[in-house]
Amino acid sequence: MSDESLPPRTAAVIPAAGRGVRLGPGAPKALRALSGTPMLVHAVRAMAASNAVSLVVVVAPPGDTAPVRNLLTDLVLPDRTELLVVPGGESRQESVRLGLDALPDDIGTVLVHDAARPLVPVDTVDAVIEAVRAGATAVVPALPLADTVKEVEPGEKGEPEPVVATPDRARLRAVQTPQGFERATLVNAHHILAGADGEATDCAGMVERLGGSVVVVPGHEEAFKVTRPLDLVLAEAVLARRRANDGF
Ligand code: C5P
Repeated sequence: MSDESLPPRTAAVIPAAGRGVRLGPGAPKALRALSGTPMLVHAVRAMAASNAVSLVVVVAPPGDTAPVRNLLTDLVLPDRTELLVVPGGESRQESVRLGLDALPDDIGTVLVHDAARPLVPVDTVDAVIEAVRAGATAVVPALPLADTVKEVEPGEKGEPEPVVATPDRARLRAVQTPQGFERATLVNAHHILAGADGEATDCAGMVERLGGSVVVVPGHEEAFKVTRPLDLVLAEAVLARRRANDGF
């Protein structure tokens, strides 16, 4: 049953304030190029590709708000899409909170999308929005795992680590973004857990921590996170394949 009480508009908040140290030295991760175009630009386009998204809030590295604004000024987006750039914080959680603070009142559905997942297809974005509009308070796109996962007792770097457990792989999912939320649910979680112990690595985890329900919808292999140098190679290969397919 669709929730007609939600304010009508959908916004996407893109936390892009991370330094990206695992990619090696260089510019903030979101500003690094994929096939000549900054990752963040790909991510903004991916959100704006959805007909349902009418506002994109980019959360920029605190010291780099001006270059991010410049970068996005010339970006051609659909007429329906408004763009805001706000400065981020020390952690992803804080950056998302600062993005949420910038939302106007008529936003009822919020997506939170990592700039580091620049290639998520529009069908995945739409599926997440659809699930929220159909009544779910928190929605996460996710994929089954290829690898078996071990829980370990973390040790010194490079030292053997004792295995504690092997969770049943069939019950595990690797979660992606955009994660979608009924706005009040997400704002409430950020409000209550601001400054709480342990920073969340994803927003849905905050909703879970407060006892809220979260559902998973199918993710997409092209929504992978660009974290390490090899991921850049894979992302450029995906873009090359898309360009080749568009040519036909
Ligand atoms: O570090 P990780 O890969 O988990 O970062 C996920 C996303 O959160 C990235 O898009 C990154 O730019 C963002 N982030 C942020 N503010 C921080 C740290 C990370 O917006 N302080």
